[in-house]
Amino acid sequence: MTMQVTKPDHRGNYHFSPQQKWMNDPNGMVYFDGEYHLFFQHHPFGDTWGPMHWGHAVTRDLTNWEELPIALEPDEHGTIFSGSAVVDWHNTTGFFPDEPGLVAIFTHHLERPDAPVVQTQSLAYSTDKGRTWIKYAGNPVLERADLPDFRDPKVFRHEPSGQWIMVVACGQIASLYHSPDLKQWTWGSDFGEGIGSHEGVWECPDLFELHVDGDQAKSRWVMLVSIGDGGSGTEGSRTQYFIGDFDGITFTPDEASQQVRWLDHGRDNYAGVSWSDVPEEDGRRLYLGWMSNWRYANQTPTDGWRGAMTIARELTLETVDGEMTLMQRPARELEAARTPVLELADVTLAELRQELETLRLDTFELEVQAEGGRSFEFRLRQGEGCGTPVGFDAQAGELYIDRTQSGESEFHADFAGRHTAKTGPESDTQLRIFVDRSSVEVFEGGGRLVMTDLIFPKAEADRLSVFSADESLKFRSVQIFRIAGSSKEA
Ligand code: FRU
Repeated sequence: MTMQVTKPDHRGNYHFSPQQKWMNDPNGMVYFDGEYHLFFQHHPFGDTWGPMHWGHAVTRDLTNWEELPIALEPDEHGTIFSGSAVVDWHNTTGFFPDEPGLVAIFTHHLERPDAPVVQTQSLAYSTDKGRTWIKYAGNPVLERADLPDFRDPKVFRHEPSGQWIMVVACGQIASLYHSPDLKQWTWGSDFGEGIGSHEGVWECPDLFELHVDGDQAKSRWVMLVSIGDGGSGTEGSRTQYFIGDFDGITFTPDEASQQVRWLDHGRDNYAGVSWSDVPEEDGRRLYLGWMSNWRYANQTPTDGWRGAMTIARELTLETVDGEMTLMQRPARELEAARTPVLELADVTLAELRQELETLRLDTFELEVQAEGGRSFEFRLRQGEGCGTPVGFDAQAGELYIDRTQSGESEFHADFAGRHTAKTGPESDTQLRIFVDRSSVEVFEGGGRLVMTDLIFPKAEADRLSVFSADESLKFRSVQIFRIAGSSKEA
């Protein structure tokens, strides 16, 4: 008798990935008229990085994604690198005499034989909710002949100064420009010299204001900066953040930002930025990142498509153990998409072990609250000789994901590995773990620590188990949910 082996389909169930070919950074994230737009770095003719276009998807609920036709194609100024989009509510550009529309601000990347690479900032606009785009005749709108790396403009409206602000990556710093109309830009300041990590080129900055601890009278500014794969370690590309103040011209980091702060302690969350124009009544700062790493992004073992985004997350600033911390929580829309599979309260290790034995799941959410200061481990996506342990090591005070036996990993020497993050002082261990066909995202302590890792298990690796050396360990609660979601072509 021959055993049937299912072909792995690594496409996520509730994560966005393109139907075909290559994807990297999220771009042009903007909310408009009930839709969250997600444009993305796309090579429509290959499943590795190549001449960049902007692909396009929309979602209304942050879990079901509809892929739309390509939004921006290369032209005489170059291919289309990363950038942002805004709603021009008051027709500052003159593009929208009738009603507000969308403006994309992106990098043109020009390569010519026998000439240095040129990166410039350009505009395109849409009067039909992002379905079709017109490139501005005056492109490019911002040039810096002195810089080979000048890219990834993130633009937002700064009401106190009545200006548009652009934060743009320039080698290993970020520059801030301002403009009344998105067309004329004036340099304001530079940020980054001598602060933060400089292990690689700075890319995809973002800058936004957040209330502190939910207090409407108190706020700080957060700058996100992604760093290219340049370091000597195995980390590859990753994202750091700074907390500080912004006066319309200059970003001034707080004392605490003198230390490098990583946004995510896993390996696969890069180039993430936040959505523009989320309505004030909603008030959230929503974010997602590209769930890969430049170290091996071109080699991951997917079939016909390559690249996925993280789940959408809400960013907040909260004081945790006396330190202001950028928190990430799964967007609440993911809760609306779930159906309970298992709900247990005050359960012993032995009871839980037994409950998990019969479950077969490849995409789900696991929510756990365990007694503080005790080690335990869940093995996710377990199959014949493989599995991905995710757990808390009380002695080391560490959270970990171990993907050394997670499935396919031979495509790059730095893929297999155990990734850790130090947790705070002892209290109940609270984890929300999102598992999909090729990813694990762990949110600890209400989002103070986050780890995002890709995994490539076999399709039949669908078991889940729990371990602890401490048989007396009790879980205050354990919940498992299926999450309905989809990523389809229009
Ligand atoms: C980040 C990045 C950006 C650039 C884009 C090119 O991953 O390198 O700096 O605009 O990807 O695809």
